[in-house]
Amino acid sequence: MRQEAARAVLPPAVFDYYQDGFGAQVSRDEAAAAWRDWRFVPQLFRDVSRVSTEVELFGARLAGPVLAGPTALHTLAHPEGEAETARGVEAAGSLLVLSSRAGRPLSEIPLTRPWWFQSYVLRDRDITERQVRAAVAAGAGAIVLTADAPYVPLRPVPQAGELSPAARTVGMEQDPALELGAIGWLARISGKPVLVKGVLGARDAVACVDAGAAGVIVSNHGGRQLDRTVATARALGPVAAAVAGRVPVLVDGGIQDGGDVLTALALGATAVLLGRPVLWALATGGADGVRDCLDLYRADLARTMAQAGLPAVEDITADVVTRG
Ligand SMILES: Cc1cc2nc3c(=O)[nH]c(=O)nc-3n(C[C@H](O)[C@H](O)[C@H](O)COP(=O)(O)O)c2cc1C
Repeated sequence: MRQEAARAVLPPAVFDYYQDGFGAQVSRDEAAAAWRDWRFVPQLFRDVSRVSTEVELFGARLAGPVLAGPTALHTLAHPEGEAETARGVEAAGSLLVLSSRAGRPLSEIPLTRPWWFQSYVLRDRDITERQVRAAVAAGAGAIVLTADAPYVPLRPVPQAGELSPAARTVGMEQDPALELGAIGWLARISGKPVLVKGVLGARDAVACVDAGAAGVIVSNHGGRQLDRTVATARALGPVAAAVAGRVPVLVDGGIQDGGDVLTALALGATAVLLGRPVLWALATGGADGVRDCLDLYRADLARTMAQAGLPAVEDITADVVTRG
């Protein structure tokens, strides 16, 4: 398995930094299993001689609904860091959500495909604004506001030298008094769609959309923030129902194969994001590994869709899954 291969090549402190959740790791450990609580109801007598996994998101055409989510410090996995990840994502026809805690500066990352920038709102809004403006100048097509991390939990970061000293100054900390108005502020300064990441509750999802969010991402941060948060495979359906198609709903957390992606789409997601799987692929295979990882998810989704009688993502309706 990719995770075990990564464990074999990464220094133990780096592997643990990537793999760890928070606290008792309840959320991290149950994320993948929660997708497998759902069962498919295949559709018969459909023409699946051709299957298309293509989707369009904010004007970007993607080979499949599987994105590389924002994760910090890719330089710990590969000397080229996010530059290598970006090359792999491009080769797979996917989309990179670049973390604002990337290990490489923007100018050193070949961002040719459509890409989005993940931002926190820092205590120092000037720094936030400068980062967002730089990302937009470098071509970011959307801003992902991560809202589920009022505080960074204390966890050892290996090779602390990789983090610039500024990252530990107070101004660089996330603003723990973040308000809904930050969505409109980011939209104004960026001129781009703003997606809110970390939504788990239906009421919050509606509040974000009412406040101007162009999309919501159902996520519990891979179990790295508040532990014992609801699994995203359970939170997604109610959030999608409440959003009611007003904006795209995306999801991440423990997504391991095409069956999980199909389940997410049937529960109302437009696309999914991968966190750790991309890191394992980067560590073991560099850009080629990242490309293969994304291609494999897409091929597995296509195979699963064909067997379930679903020729295109538009055909994936809620009645395709039921609780197991
Ligand atoms: C090592 C690591 C670093 C992360 N860094 C960020 C980050 O900088 N910003 C962010 O919004 N989410 C971050 N996340 C959360 C991921 O975007 C995502 O929500 C989570 O990893 C999805 O779960 P998965 O790893 O099971 O696919 C990070 C996750 C990991 C594992």
